[in-house]
Amino acid sequence: MKNFAIAALAAASGVLATPTPTEELVARASSSSLTAITVKGNAFFQGENRFYIRGVDYQPGGSSDLADPIADEAGCTRDIAEFKKLGINTVRVYTVDNTASHDACMAALSAAGIYLVLDVNTPLYSLNRATPAPSYNAVYLQNIFATIDAFANYTNTLAFFSGNEVINDDTTTSAAPYVKAVTRDMRQYIGSRGYRQVPVGYSAADVDSNRLEMAEYMNCGSDDERSDFFAFNDYSWCDPSSFQLSGWDQKVKNFTGYGLPLFLSEYGCNTNTRKFEEVAALYNTEMTSVYSGGLVYEYSQESSNYGLVTISGSSVTERPDFSALQSAFKATANPTGDGGFNSTGGASGCPVKSANWNVSSDALPAIPSAAAAYMKKGAGSGPGLSGKGSQNSGGTSTGTATAGSGSVSAVATGSSSSGTSSKSAAPLTVQPLNKAPMIIGFIVVGFSFLGATLL
Ligand SMILES: *[C@@H]1O[C@H](CO)[C@@H](O)[C@H](O)[C@H]1NC(C)=O
Ligand SMILES: *[C@@H]1O[C@H](CO)[C@@H](O)[C@H](O)[C@H]1NC(C)=O
Ligand SMILES: *[C@@H]1O[C@H](CO)[C@@H](O)[C@H](O)[C@H]1NC(C)=O
Ligand SMILES: *[C@@H]1O[C@H](CO)[C@@H](O)[C@H](O)[C@H]1NC(C)=O
Repeated sequence: MKNFAIAALAAASGVLATPTPTEELVARASSSSLTAITVKGNAFFQGENRFYIRGVDYQPGGSSDLADPIADEAGCTRDIAEFKKLGINTVRVYTVDNTASHDACMAALSAAGIYLVLDVNTPLYSLNRATPAPSYNAVYLQNIFATIDAFANYTNTLAFFSGNEVINDDTTTSAAPYVKAVTRDMRQYIGSRGYRQVPVGYSAADVDSNRLEMAEYMNCGSDDERSDFFAFNDYSWCDPSSFQLSGWDQKVKNFTGYGLPLFLSEYGCNTNTRKFEEVAALYNTEMTSVYSGGLVYEYSQESSNYGLVTISGSSVTERPDFSALQSAFKATANPTGDGGFNSTGGASGCPVKSANWNVSSDALPAIPSAAAAYMKKGAGSGPGLSGKGSQNSGGTSTGTATAGSGSVSAVATGSSSSGTSSKSAAPLTVQPLNKAPMIIGFIVVGFSFLGATLL
């Protein structure tokens, strides 16, 4: 619902931000002492204990004033003090600069007991929902793999979102195979580079007509094509409401038996004064057998008027919604025990084509060949928040994937899945990459990016 279409015209030429041939990946600090989150059945776990996401969406400046909030030590220090007052354990960040250092903020978040759920896309490097095929290409994948390189080593990286609201109505469901292919490729990259199995999943828009189909689709087929979790944005509980009035009871019913962890990637309807009464339901056993918590939209006040705080330079002013959420969290403990999770998990059936679901084949596009090479070589440096963009840069998929083609066939040596804090381990050697200059010029239309600005 709160996705928006950006119409941008960019003409650019020159070389792409390709990896430097002789480059070595500098070992990044595994600064976190937080226990990495794992998936069991349809739930997240922190060691032996069920883990519920109690979080907020965090992107000060939104899409109009784009900045990486966890590359800004002063900013994250300012905000982590507020996160602690709220009592949250997770933030979601919609875009980062994969050339920046995140060590300081990731360590500070970790010290505060806070995990990160990270969207890997940027406005310039993302799928185009209107014409997904050309935008699913090696230049795009290189960027998101470089973002994985920048974050996979932190033990408080909880999960990666492969996409955000790419599908926002019934007609754009034809982009779903590309979203699923990207998810597959990210999981294969994580495995091939020897990283910890950071969970990868998709964040769906608040669209009733295809929510269940999308969830099933992301969890159907061979194991290499299935996500690690599913999330959706949900603004249907508008205070004053209830579990029944909001329809959340029906969603629990509909998702009962779904084999993956499920959580709300955005919630907090602001039609009326927000009391965050939905918090009491979300962390109650009436929901925890199916849901694993969620993220409130959003920390900072932007033009869409969902902020918990107003930021002005180095100072933060709490808005009324801040104390409402703080009280709701304080009054709501997690269920004792395992919250009734389903330890079995498992695949869904693929949804059939219908008026709401325009996907006729369960087959996915094959990974573009130039991107497949990154599994062995590593992605190298990313373009950060600038770069030439990827949506029409060529290097697209040329065939249909065979089931199992996204499995991990070889694991790079020199990388580590240990998550220790050693900085002295041998760096990962990146072999030379083809560095063919490419001329690009493109028109970017209607891609989904931040969940911001418009309802
Ligand atoms: C991740 O951490 C390990 C262990 O500290 C280190 O060997 C490896 O080079 C790091 N990888 C990256 C990409 O930072
Ligand atoms: C369904 O998707 C195909 C492309 O895969 C497209 O050609 C067709 O127009 C779409 N149909 C509808 C009803 O949107
Ligand atoms: C639950 O599923 C039914 C059948 O697919 C659907 O009609 C209904 O809209 C769903 N309810 C919610 C709240 O998602
Ligand atoms: C647990 O998950 C499995 C696999 O998705 C499903 O078949 C089963 O019905 C679920 N059990 C419950 C109680 O939801």
